[in-house]
Amino acid sequence: MSKITAAITAVGAYVPEDILTNKKLEELVDTSDEWILSRTGIKERRILKDPSLGTSYLAIEAAKDLINKANLDPAEIDLIILGTVSPDMPVAASAVHVASQIGAVNAFGYDLQAACSSFLYGMSTGAAYIESGRYKKVLVIGADKMSSIIDYTDRTTCIIFGDGGGAALLEPNYEGLGLQDELLRCDSIGRNSLKIVAGGSLMPPSEETVAKKLHYVQQDGKTVFKFAVSNMAEVSAQIMERNNLINKDVDWLVAHQANKRIIDATAKRMNLTDEDKVLMNIHRYGNTTSATLPLLLSDYEKQFKKGDNLIFASFGGGFTWGATYLKWAYNS
Ligand code: COA
Repeated sequence: MSKITAAITAVGAYVPEDILTNKKLEELVDTSDEWILSRTGIKERRILKDPSLGTSYLAIEAAKDLINKANLDPAEIDLIILGTVSPDMPVAASAVHVASQIGAVNAFGYDLQAACSSFLYGMSTGAAYIESGRYKKVLVIGADKMSSIIDYTDRTTCIIFGDGGGAALLEPNYEGLGLQDELLRCDSIGRNSLKIVAGGSLMPPSEETVAKKLHYVQQDGKTVFKFAVSNMAEVSAQIMERNNLINKDVDWLVAHQANKRIIDATAKRMNLTDEDKVLMNIHRYGNTTSATLPLLLSDYEKQFKKGDNLIFASFGGGFTWGATYLKWAYNS
């Protein structure tokens, strides 16, 4: 039998209806539409306003979208990996609730946290299960209700993040399509540059941590920017070299939507002169953390052709980063 590769065979997505524009943010903090757009490329982001709904809601809706589009029987799903930094609760994995809510009655599931690289790392994990022959249908979801961990009085973070969810189904492929190669990295040099200080075992929540707003995301934007530009660009160029790909061989760059300038720098390092190859939706959703990559796949799915070469690239807190080379497996 020919070698098993792990291919994406369906995608789905969900973003909440409520839109938080740059203009609206001008009313909340000392900022401007012009500043945000020129520094980040973001025009608006989506917010899940209902306080009774957590990240699992975004994941469930994204999974349902995939299931409907692919006409998939959820009972056939073997495993659900939910990449997220904002699970419904610290204990009781959100993926388990997702499995039950979508009718994945024969699946097991767990959450995976690698900041903004959660989906890329999740794809790696899911692909390994498929390549080993152990499972046939792995649903990898990236979802985050970032608005639940953002301080809307902090202009250095609240302008960047938004809420959303996306999903991709991995299945065995025998034509050599799907995941070809990956370069995943991490370095705790970034541990203090992008973090939520309180709420974990190092600093359990208390009245004091809440009063000091230590349960919200904090970041040193300049440092994160510097490392994101160099590391994401470098690893993307390396994976091309390692697979003997030059710019014309790459059909699509699927890069984490953190900042348009970071994405542009990555594309430049890869010598991608054709802007149309660089997937972009940061202007509409901002940085949705674990959801950016599957949201891109869903938005651009109709343009992908069977056999297209996709390079995924991500960078996130920790630091975590990586690049993945994948051959698209279907025409939609
Ligand atoms: N509106 C207006 N001014 C702002 C502002 C805002 N929302 N946030 C910061 N500023 C000010 C700063 O206070 C600073 O003023 P000063 O020069 O008087 O001190 C000035 O704008 C420049 O700030 P700086 O931090 O140098 O801006 P920048 O060009 O680095 O852009 C980020 C800031 C956050 C957009 C940028 O650093 C970035 O995108 N970093 C990466 C963040 C990220 O992607 N995080 C997720 C990673 S997965």
